[in-house]
Amino acid sequence: MSELKSYLTRQAKRVDQALRGALPRSNVRPATLHKAMRYSIFAGGKRLRPILTLAACEACGGDPEEALPLACAVECLHTYSLIHDDLPSMDDDDLRRGNPTLHKVYGEAVAVLAGDALQALSFELIGRAKPTPRYSTAALLGELAVTAGSQALIAGQVMDMEGEGKKLTKGQIVSIHERKTAALLTTSLRFGAMSANASESKLAAITRFGFALGLAFQVIDDILDVTQSSEKLGKSAGKDEAVDKSTFPALIGLERSRKEAAKLTRQAQLALHEMRLGRSRLAEIADYMLKRDY
Ligand code: IPE
Ligand code: IPE
Ligand code: MG
Ligand code: MG
Ligand code: MG
Repeated sequence: MSELKSYLTRQAKRVDQALRGALPRSNVRPATLHKAMRYSIFAGGKRLRPILTLAACEACGGDPEEALPLACAVECLHTYSLIHDDLPSMDDDDLRRGNPTLHKVYGEAVAVLAGDALQALSFELIGRAKPTPRYSTAALLGELAVTAGSQALIAGQVMDMEGEGKKLTKGQIVSIHERKTAALLTTSLRFGAMSANASESKLAAITRFGFALGLAFQVIDDILDVTQSSEKLGKSAGKDEAVDKSTFPALIGLERSRKEAAKLTRQAQLALHEMRLGRSRLAEIADYMLKRDY
């Protein structure tokens, strides 16, 4: 296994262990709800967002142990967004993280509620992180609220639904991707930097890195939807075209979409160079994310 792969595996295990302690046990009442929350969280996601939190913390000279509650918070928020994204009223998907989607197993009502509870838990977890001289608990809570809210993640999801069957411009697609995906990915990185009490200029560079990386991430997700199998992805492939989603591959084709993702990744790397992190773990992860095949 390459050095980076073993780092990613190690960090994912660390996050999983913290999540096991952060979520109520499956026998806590109401047991169905807690089983459902654990079903989706432990179904086998890549854990990229929490890993980015830990890596950004390290890059800014912090102790990743301090960033763990924030890493768990972003994973809970992300998993909630996937549960709701898969609902019949939204993307209507049957497969997620290699397993039947939550609503297929527990029904729609429990899936909606387990998503709600995971979102609430993400805020509770922020309250468990130690504030730093520059960044208060209130600042972290406010940032997650904005990221999860009606002008970022939810805005992106609404715009994504409204964009189905329409011919959107590249700019319109970018603004969907920024909101539904890049916002949380950026916050994941910023939380790592904030837990390390990073200076404002470092935080600004991490933010630029995150935004470009987050956009690249969704472009690649859209490419993989076209090029990979459901088995490989652990989710239903080919869905975007089937429901006529507005994506990069639909608008400009696969080849140009790949070039776009590579360009965005270079932009992300440039932001790291500006703060002398061009050879850091974050830079390696960005390259890995560009080349990923699931
Ligand atoms: C999928 O995210 C949803 C997008 C924003 C594209 P991931 O590809 O990170 O999904 P998991 O967490 O590994 O399941
Ligand atoms: C989802 O985008 C982004 C979220 C905020 C959940 P997609 O709908 O493309 O994600 P997948 O392909 O279902 O994972
Ligand atoms: Mg969607
Ligand atoms: Mg979807
Ligand atoms: Mg997708």
